[in-house]
Amino acid sequence: MSSQRFTRLRAAVAALVLCLGAGGTLIAHAQNAPAPGGVNAGRQAAEERKAVFKLIGSNFRSVGALLKDGAQYDAANATKRIERVNFLAGLLNETFSDASNLGEPDTKAKPDIWTHREDFDKKLKEFQDHLVTLVAVNDKEKGLTEPFKVALSAVAQDCKSCHDSYRVK
Ligand code: HEC
Repeated sequence: MSSQRFTRLRAAVAALVLCLGAGGTLIAHAQNAPAPGGVNAGRQAAEERKAVFKLIGSNFRSVGALLKDGAQYDAANATKRIERVNFLAGLLNETFSDASNLGEPDTKAKPDIWTHREDFDKKLKEFQDHLVTLVAVNDKEKGLTEPFKVALSAVAQDCKSCHDSYRVK
């Protein structure tokens, strides 16, 4: 085979692979399209939920630790983390769609969430409200003051209270 023909052949194969790849992506995308109440929409919401909580957990760790004796307050870190958790918490509502009630082992979210929707939504809203307060108090206090600790405790309590009721141990 001449090197020119070989190059052309390689280009054709590459183009074919690209087309197949793009086709595969399109098909996968169509299957994941948020069909209302569809299984895949629910799975996607549950995956997002776990990812968001994972980020909430890792960002809140060093902030929650400020409630321990002898903790050192670092304004840059505390502010960055608190603002992130505040933003992430706002993403949670849509990740608890009805279709995302998958049951174990896919999720640790208890089915009670969907049978006690009003109570769950109230807990989620309180958590979000307490985070807005924490952002404001932190901006004002910029230190381990009493008002800061009170606002932080409220958020930490929300994590525990919701997990006690609505997360599988
Ligand atoms: C309104 C209820 C609620 C609040 C408030 C809440 N959580 Fe959760 N959390 C859940 C539920 C439900 C799950 C299980 C999600 C799943 O598996 O689908 C969860 C899961 C998690 C996970 C496990 C993520 C994973 O899959 O690895 C972490 C970490 C976490 N939460 C941290 C926190 C922290 C930290 C706070 C407070 C700053 C908090 N949560 C506040 C309900 C809540």
